[in-house]
Formats: sequence, structure tokens, C-alpha cells
Amino acid sequence: MKKFFALALALILVLSLAACGGDKKDDSSNGGNETQTQQPAGNGGSETKEPEQKSAGSIGVCIYKFDDAFMTTYRNALEKILKEKGYEVTVVDGNNDQAKQNEQINTFITQGVDALIINPVMTSAADTIIATVKDADIPTVLINREPTGDQMAAYDKLVYVGCDAAQSGTFQGELILDTENKGDINGDGKVSYIMIQGDPENIDAQLRTEYSVKALQDAGIEVEQLNLTRGDWDREKGQTICANDLAQFGDKIEVVFCNNDDMAIGALQAIQSAGRKVNEDIYLVGVDALDAALNEVSNGNMTGTVLNDAEGQAAGAVAEMEKLLGGATYAAGEQSVYVDYVKVTPENVKDFMK
Ligand code: BGC
Repeated sequence: MKKFFALALALILVLSLAACGGDKKDDSSNGGNETQTQQPAGNGGSETKEPEQKSAGSIGVCIYKFDDAFMTTYRNALEKILKEKGYEVTVVDGNNDQAKQNEQINTFITQGVDALIINPVMTSAADTIIATVKDADIPTVLINREPTGDQMAAYDKLVYVGCDAAQSGTFQGELILDTENKGDINGDGKVSYIMIQGDPENIDAQLRTEYSVKALQDAGIEVEQLNLTRGDWDREKGQTICANDLAQFGDKIEVVFCNNDDMAIGALQAIQSAGRKVNEDIYLVGVDALDAALNEVSNGNMTGTVLNDAEGQAAGAVAEMEKLLGGATYAAGEQSVYVDYVKVTPENVKDFMK
């Protein structure tokens, strides 16, 4: 009889272990790259029940791609806050592939997550994403890539947390206006620039491109665009584009506007290889305030950057998510929550360095 019980117990143990393994397998179908931060699910086989370690809820986080410098800082901040608050978090990599991200959203829905935080791959896919989460009735926070107010109005348990991209563009223009010659290094009465753009499908890229130049024009300065090239937010592309433009336009280039810091760091490499010196014969500005860019601003190798507050946005996203979990809904036209950008100059850069 004793033997029978021992056998039965062993069988139960084996079965429950198999069940745990099964769950894991389901999770990994979210896509190859994935990080999970979960409260311990069991108690390591011990028979005693641990005091209820109830998770605050399960949250699915979709990032457009892990291989993005700014979004890496952002997702780490997000994961840390959610974890500290006791949520069970799964973060998945969309690999810059909207079809893949759509699948990941559906998988999260099937798994019954309590809320979603989504950094869309394509802003143009917002309608589909919003229809999907609405259909599943899942509270959702969109981050980093802002859809239009009309698109968001389709679902009242949806909110966007991000920044006003126009503001970052204006600040970039102001960084150039703050230089001793207002960007006109060669004194020919106009500022000649190249624009290295992020992914133009993304409103941050569109508005930074527009408003950086507009700030100069609004200050009564004549501008000349020598070239505008998409660099897709990517450091290597930033370097190649800037190297090509320097080869083509040489000393004519007075300002290099980059829609983000990663491309600006790439551009800086090209500038240095061409024997040019930032703040002496060329100006260079970015956005994000990545650690690498803060170093370069502090060393005088970048004219300035603009803080894209990843931690502030992550905290804001979690706060809005908790409001949604508490039953809040958002009226049309009030579905965007903004965190301010901050201008980073050689004077204040130390305040941003960790
Ligand atoms: C950041 C970029 C980033 C992009 C991703 C922007 O707000 O400035 O660095 O690549 O978001 O969507």
C-alpha cells in the first residue's frame, strides 16, 4: 500500500512538472527574443504552500525591435518598474516586423494577459492593433510611436504615452540658434544643413525633421537643405550617410541634424574621419540623450542633444496602465499623455550624466 502511495505521488509530481514545461513552451511561441520577468510560479517542489505571492497582474509588452538603442533603455526601465510593482511581465521583440508583432499581440490575448503595452512596428498598423485589443477588451497603452487621435478614439481603454515630437525638433533648432554664429559658420547669410532622418513612417522622424528647421526659419534665418536621407534610426546608416554627404558637399555643410543620437554618433565618426571638428567648422545635434551622446556633448564633440526621457515615459506608461486596470476610460481627444523633452547643452549636460 505504501508503495502504491509513493508511486502515485511520483506520478503526480511528474505530471505537474510536465504541465509546467507545457506552459513554458506556449510562452516561447511569442517569438525568439523574449525576456520574462515572473514571480516564482511554484515553490520548487516543496509541499508547503508559500504565503500567497500573488502577482499584481500579467502584462504583455511588445517592443518594435530590441535592436534599437533608445528602445533598449526604455524597455529596461519599463521592465524594472513593472517588476518592482509585482507584475508578471513578458517582453517580446517584434524584430521590426509588423506581422510578427500582430501574432505576438494575439498570443498575449490568448494567454489572457491583464494589460498590454505596445510599441507598434508601423504606425500605419495602429488601426488593426487597436481593433484587435478592443475586440479582446484588453486595456492597452501605446508607446513611442503615436497614432492619430482619430485612430485612438476607436477604443476608450486605450491611451498613448510619449512625447510631443515637434518639441524635440524645435529644441534641436534652438541648439543651433544658441551657437555664436547661429549655425552660419561660413558667414554667407544662410545655414546649410544635411538632415539624417529616422524611419519616415514614424511621426517622431517627420516632426523632428520639420520643426528643427522651422525653429531657424521662425528666427528669421535663411536655410539651405543640401540633403535629406533616411537613416532609419540606425548608427551605421548615420555614419554612411554623413560620410557620403561630406564627400559630396564638403565644407558647405554647416549643420548635421540627426533625428536621433544613435545616428548622430555614427555621423560623428564620419565627421571625425573627414578631419572636421564639431563646434568649430560644423555643428551636430541629435535627440534622446543616450549615454554615448551625453559623453560627446560633454567632450565638445556634439553641439547638443535633447533628452527623450525613457524613464519618465516608462513610469508614465505604467501609471496610465494602472489607471486603465482600475477601470478608467479615456475620452476621444484626450488619449495622448506627454512627457516633456529637455534641451541638453554643454552647460547642463552634467545634470543628465549618471
Ligand atoms: C527615438 C529613436 C528611436 C525611435 C524608435 C524615437 O523616439 O528618438 O532613437 O529609434 O523612437 O521608434
